[in-house]
Amino acid sequence: MTQRRLKVGVTRKLPQAVEARLSALFDVTLNDADSPVSPEGLIALARENDVLAPTLGDALSADFFNECGDRLKLIANFGAGVDHIDIAAANAHGVTVTNTPSVLAEDAADMAMALILAAPRRLVEGVKALEAGDFKGWSPTWMLGRRVRGKKLGVIGLGRVGEAVARRARAFGLSIHYHNRRPINPHIEDELGATFWPSLDEMLPRMDIVSVNCPATAQTRHLLSRKRLALMQPHAYVVNISRGEIIDEEALADAIEAGKLAGAGLDVFENEPKPNQRLLAARNVVLLPHMASATIESRIEMGERVIINIKMFADGHKPPDRIILGLD
Ligand code: DGY
Repeated sequence: MTQRRLKVGVTRKLPQAVEARLSALFDVTLNDADSPVSPEGLIALARENDVLAPTLGDALSADFFNECGDRLKLIANFGAGVDHIDIAAANAHGVTVTNTPSVLAEDAADMAMALILAAPRRLVEGVKALEAGDFKGWSPTWMLGRRVRGKKLGVIGLGRVGEAVARRARAFGLSIHYHNRRPINPHIEDELGATFWPSLDEMLPRMDIVSVNCPATAQTRHLLSRKRLALMQPHAYVVNISRGEIIDEEALADAIEAGKLAGAGLDVFENEPKPNQRLLAARNVVLLPHMASATIESRIEMGERVIINIKMFADGHKPPDRIILGLD
């Protein structure tokens, strides 16, 4: 007897190789338009499929799970962050949720490192000055930034991506500090020469650059609050490739405009896709449009993880990248 092929609904356009493999294995509904599916469209897709493969931006709230019917059994998220999915509501409805960890960590860390360099070294400002015809020849005092080597990097969330950022930063001569709920494996801590700060409030005033690498959760929303940003030194920079919501963006804009922070490098915003206009206008802020993991290699490997998770599930096994509440 042939097994019924699982029905899989994909919410966004994926790399061609990933769509081809998904189509070979499952009965797939693809989204050729590559525009976000409406909330009603998501519910309709969920009702017709055993598996949904969404991405960030597809808000799968408790309301969604109340409406999605009984057919949906697996959400195989295309992406590491699952802050757009109400995991507790999914589990309560008997829906397993998986993500694509690890495969994008190195590419994302490259972009964090690029921002750690770009903000203090005024990279984008330099490009803009040249494009605007403002380069009048080399000058001993023009375009002076801040040296990176020898500075202290404070990583908030030394997980997969945070560790990859720390390794790069160490190679650039920064000393590594981190704030986590718990210290990391002592061997890795030794290898990185990393200092653990149980208190974020005590770490912040001592750092030259702070890199946000923790996931967005109810607990990390505005973790870098107005009060905490005020603890930082005026020559310090903030870098964020995780999620915009972790920083109080208005407070960050206030601090930068008032000269209480030297600048920022941000790949993510609180209200994507709309960047904060004050941050966009600030000369000492480098903004990127959420592209830290945007390499073709990373996207294909993300697709591979989605397929592996669905395939394991289809074969009656526990998918490897299950999100289990309470684990971090
Ligand atoms: C993710 O996977 O959550 C990333 O933000 C995508 O770049």
